[in-house]
Amino acid sequence: MRNIFLTGLSGSGKSTVGCILAQRLNKPFLDTDALIEAACGASISSIFSQHGENYFRDCETRALARAAATEGGAIIATGGGIVVREENRALMKAQGERIYLQVDPATALERLHAQQAAALARGEKPEIRPLLSGPDPLVSLNALLTARSAWYKEADFSFSTRDKSSEHAAREILAALIGSGKLDAVPSVTRYIHAGEGYNAVVDWGGLGRLGQYLAQLRLPPRIFLVTDSNIRDLYAPAILQGLSRSGFEPLLYTIPAGEASKSQHQLNAIYDWLVERHAERREAIVALGGGVIGDLAGYAAATYLRGVPLVQLPTSLLAQVDAAIGGKTGINHPRGKNLIGAFYQPRLVLADPATLLTLPARERTEGWAEVVKYGMILDAELFAQLEANAGLLRDFTRPPADLLCQLIARCIALKASIIEEDEREQGRRAILNYGHTVGHALENVAGYGQWLHGEAVSLGMVIAAAIAQQAGMIAEVDVIRQRQLLAALGLPVSYDGTVQASAILAATQVDKKVAGKQVRWVMPQSIGKVIVSTMPDDLVERVISTFFSPAS
Ligand SMILES: NC(=O)c1ccc[n+]([C@@H]2O[C@H](COP(=O)([O-])OP(=O)(O)OC[C@H]3O[C@@H](n4cnc5c(N)ncnc54)[C@H](O)[C@@H]3O)[C@@H](O)[C@H]2O)c1
Repeated sequence: MRNIFLTGLSGSGKSTVGCILAQRLNKPFLDTDALIEAACGASISSIFSQHGENYFRDCETRALARAAATEGGAIIATGGGIVVREENRALMKAQGERIYLQVDPATALERLHAQQAAALARGEKPEIRPLLSGPDPLVSLNALLTARSAWYKEADFSFSTRDKSSEHAAREILAALIGSGKLDAVPSVTRYIHAGEGYNAVVDWGGLGRLGQYLAQLRLPPRIFLVTDSNIRDLYAPAILQGLSRSGFEPLLYTIPAGEASKSQHQLNAIYDWLVERHAERREAIVALGGGVIGDLAGYAAATYLRGVPLVQLPTSLLAQVDAAIGGKTGINHPRGKNLIGAFYQPRLVLADPATLLTLPARERTEGWAEVVKYGMILDAELFAQLEANAGLLRDFTRPPADLLCQLIARCIALKASIIEEDEREQGRRAILNYGHTVGHALENVAGYGQWLHGEAVSLGMVIAAAIAQQAGMIAEVDVIRQRQLLAALGLPVSYDGTVQASAILAATQVDKKVAGKQVRWVMPQSIGKVIVSTMPDDLVERVISTFFSPAS
């Protein structure tokens, strides 16, 4: 991707959306009007009134050319009338992606009035667009839209910004760029070959845009049964469906409502119905596009429909990329407990595209870091130190480091895969992956699913597990502090201030799936990068848990 040119009427959101895109894509943001004002040392309205529109348009063409020549490309908000000149349109077509932000004139005018009011409130003189200075700006905006509409629509992508926050509009644009393969390449494409089953896990920045090529390597029949959730469908489905069709596939799409509640027998049956009605065959693949909920649900459908059809995992959340999509655990929830029904079923391919994290809401992104810290604590002191060194950058995400993200995700996948190879069905060593999950699951369960996101609960669970280990003399205080500080630096919870009682958490830990022979098997840290699985004295566990949660009333 070279440049992104944002076009559209004044008030369509080009500057605000452009700034968000620039942050996420790590590129400079430029505004042709600001460039003209800087070059001429005068405001747009005075250039217009002193020199006329033609002179202004000459300045604008020069500003556009200068902006487009930015090394590495830029996000460029253009003036509403930039499309009027043929040479401007040709330059934008040749040197980047043209994105038209659509808005109706009444909404645009409302926004312009709000901007003017905000400028006045700041004690600044509001800028009045020269072409809107007539007696009825709405009539002027309507006339401008009619005159320019056909040129705006030449854009590579069009998005309505009406009734949407700038953040939402920016996410839609990012998803379309990712899904259609328009992102700058990042060299670090990492592959992990799972020796047992012979499948690839690939970490590829912008890889979703190359999905057709990846699927072609699997020699699948043309029909692709794509399962996703309502959030991902809105963002990614159009570009992905188009890309697959272009690659010769016949994609069919099934959407479930986003959220943990969809990991249910009801939704599973609905997917079976969909497959049966379309006579899905044994060689045809189910492709799971989404977070851990989709991976688990569609994965279980693939494991069980016709006793197993090919499965491809396209994890889009951090948690799913580093954890849920790897290792072959699939399943649904039972009304009495999470993940109680399921199967071990390995996918033919896992394609993790870290660029999808650019559209993941901040809270869901943050929770994913808990699982990454977990890998550091249980297996990899170097990874832990790398997270410590970059915690600010990873939390903040205003300049997402593509290389580092690819590297971290690939490392987590390799770590999990190494455990799975040894113990696919959790007969022994795989249990260490449950570090922080004993209390984490209990908290998720007692607080009510959705109150605490999985990763948030695991974060607190790791803090509590480390406190138990410290009390038992198994780990040095310095390591307990390092873990707490890293979790906090990544924006994860390290304490609890709600109403859940210690007794409820203790009771919930007893029904955790990891209880063996009536005794909870705790994953206990011994140092950063090293854990053991052990039973712990009940009184010690009770004492520590009561310091974190409310006492019984
Ligand atoms: N199978 C396993 O080994 C395993 C391991 C850990 C967790 N899990 C399961 O994973 C689930 C949690 O996973 P999750 O946190 O990904 O939940 P999720 O699938 O509900 O995704 C979280 C939210 O983020 C949205 N989302 C996902 N990717 C997005 C993107 N790129 N852009 C915008 N929005 C996006 C989703 O629509 C959803 O609203 C739980 O059900 C948990 O039990 C499974």
